[in-house]
Amino acid sequence: MDQKRFLQDFPMLQGKSMQGHPLVWLDNASTTFKPFSVLKAVESYYTTYTSNSHRGDYDLCYQMDAMVAEARKTVADFIHAKEEEVVFTSGCTSSLNLVAFGYGLTHIKSGDEILLTEAEHASNVLPWFKVSEMTGAKIRYIPLDKEGRLTVENLRKTITKNTKIVAIAHVSNVLGFLAPIKELAKIVHESGAVFVVDGAQSAPHMKIDVKDMDCDFFAFSGHKMCGPTGIGVLYGKYSLLLETEPFMTGGGMNAKFDICGDVNFLAPPLRFEAGTQNLEGILGLKAAINYLQEIGMDEITHHERELKQYAVSELLKTGMATVYNANSEAGIVTFNINGVFAQDAATFLNSRGIACRSGNHCAKILVNFLHEVATVRASFYFYTTKEDIDALVDAVRHGKEFLNAYL
Ligand code: ALA
Repeated sequence: MDQKRFLQDFPMLQGKSMQGHPLVWLDNASTTFKPFSVLKAVESYYTTYTSNSHRGDYDLCYQMDAMVAEARKTVADFIHAKEEEVVFTSGCTSSLNLVAFGYGLTHIKSGDEILLTEAEHASNVLPWFKVSEMTGAKIRYIPLDKEGRLTVENLRKTITKNTKIVAIAHVSNVLGFLAPIKELAKIVHESGAVFVVDGAQSAPHMKIDVKDMDCDFFAFSGHKMCGPTGIGVLYGKYSLLLETEPFMTGGGMNAKFDICGDVNFLAPPLRFEAGTQNLEGILGLKAAINYLQEIGMDEITHHERELKQYAVSELLKTGMATVYNANSEAGIVTFNINGVFAQDAATFLNSRGIACRSGNHCAKILVNFLHEVATVRASFYFYTTKEDIDALVDAVRHGKEFLNAYL
């Protein structure tokens, strides 16, 4: 990885932490830094291209329409989808809510089952709780194996003829295990259910081919992949998007409506993009994808896996840490400093300029599996260096000294 290039490209990598130390950013599963090219794309909307889309018969507006179409194509190519299968949303949460309320609510009835895992993020649990409450469908959990992985075998044992939806994370945001999507999809489809994949922690880090994986819906966010906040994507197989109700209605998504209340919606994807789209976000997301592709998705995956192995082995060498996901694929290390409560540990790391997330990371049911109320999570991206990991490991080595002050 060309770290010199990243130092030039990312303003946040040039900064210091608020404690005056060099900033060690290890919270990339939460959000990522943005390169200048993304900032420039966002700014260009305000300095050069300001206009609405699909709403004007003048050049600026035609140009904006073309730019939105180009961005949609960039996203479609990035995940190997068709352009009409790419819906712009405000983020992964909004994408998953659209599936739950737009598709789930109209296709699920009392007695049906929705399968999740205990490792899911709130965004892939709470919308389904609501759908279950509104329809009488039952939520069931596919058991994780001893390590916390979702296995094909466990899905096979859990799925029944009543299962209508299986909704799982491609990569879990706490443990970082990579689900075998293609094999899971086969079982889900043999059962006649619909397969929803939360790609928030996978799309930024690896090549995604939704056709090859054969998932029915795939959701992800821009801000976790160097793009702006407030922009996300929902991929849906076109036949399923046609069966999905718009979760929001308004301008830009209807073909006509009249005084009697007769309404015709536009075809997907515009059907799901009511109101003015997040235009600067769309331009920024396109620039982010271009940037990631220049680096290479395989190179990103490889770099993060190397860092993961390095971090796990160095943390364990200190004899001071318990690591909960040593064998998972993603660049996420979830650990505790032995004898130190996770939030205290994160506060201590912060005093050294190291940003890690602590707590339960929005995956509150996973607490039952981990038997830990809280953990610390360090998560990497392509601009993370071995020196960043060394800073973390050195801090962990001294983690108890911090508490000594209170003894
Ligand atoms: N989903 C983000 C995380 O896991 C916020 O930290």
